[in-house]
Amino acid sequence: MNDVVRAAGLLRAGELVAFPTETVYGLGADAANPRAIARIFAAKGRPVDHPLIVHLPDASQLEHWAVDIPEAAHRLAAAFWPGPLTLILRRHPSVSDAITGGQDTVGLRVPNHPLALQLLREFGGGVAAPSANRFGRISPTTAAHVREDLGDAVALVLDGGPCAVGIESTILDLSGAAPRILRPGMLDAAAIGKVLGVVPAFGGTADAPRVSGSLEAHYAPRTPLQLAAATELAGVTTCALDAGQRVAVLAAQAPGIAHESLVWRAADLDPERFAHDLYTRLRELDALSCDLILVAAPPDDEAWRAVADRLRRAAATSK
Ligand code: TXA
Ligand code: MG
Repeated sequence: MNDVVRAAGLLRAGELVAFPTETVYGLGADAANPRAIARIFAAKGRPVDHPLIVHLPDASQLEHWAVDIPEAAHRLAAAFWPGPLTLILRRHPSVSDAITGGQDTVGLRVPNHPLALQLLREFGGGVAAPSANRFGRISPTTAAHVREDLGDAVALVLDGGPCAVGIESTILDLSGAAPRILRPGMLDAAAIGKVLGVVPAFGGTADAPRVSGSLEAHYAPRTPLQLAAATELAGVTTCALDAGQRVAVLAAQAPGIAHESLVWRAADLDPERFAHDLYTRLRELDALSCDLILVAAPPDDEAWRAVADRLRRAAATSK
């Protein structure tokens, strides 16, 4: 039996299966089985009122999961699925509260990875899948990351190599009066705007659904992480070294200081490649057991918005 067939069988039996997507690895369970979904929350240590994204093999299943689907959803699905876009729509009454966290909306996406699509087709239904990490930790972008984080809690990890995008999907809320991006991703507002005819605004409204990806402290390494403007990097590094700290620096340019307590890792100048490597780099820097991870702040530019968002959240934990 091949791994995909075995994985689909495990999902049908209510077990957890981790699988690659183009963004990050997901921790999958049968979205129609509340007991299987409960296992996701237990394995991740995630609060049960945080909703999950349901992954579908294609857009033809949208009507099973959502109602009052706006025409824009179909256009976006045609343009970007399979791909790194999650749509928040009004939930179908049959969707379990365990998925939606009791809200009246549901998150749906068709991931763009051959193994994920094979699994979803073989399984035939929706697969609920958060990122396959412990709650609040760095999302996994390789099968090894998943095993490190979740170990025996997951019955099978499908290994599809490193994820192409490297950070989580863009979440677009289409359930309200106007489209809003609840979580920025590498599919940016301009691309979505071209299809919608209007560029979506960022952030939820006061009554918007809860997004754990929008908690300030999220995506965090264990080592305190600080962002510094590129021009201030050398000064901040020197200060920390003078205070006796061991410092890991992630920046495009070396800080120009030679010190035995300083480790420098080169960061990419291109936002796509930076995103692709970000979580692997953070894990590597975390493993050095330094006192501080210093990251050169990315440019204040749309192309860097999603990366800047993840870095800001990683830094928020350290305050
Ligand atoms: O790229 C991704 O989206 C990855 C891969 C595995 O597909 N998944 C992912 O799942 O990042 P997770 O659970 O780590 O983050 C999903 C986010 C959460 O912040 C959750 O609160 C939000 O989506 N979400 C899910 N359903 C929602 C809903 N109905 N309304 C608002 N936010 C929702
Ligand atoms: Mg996550």
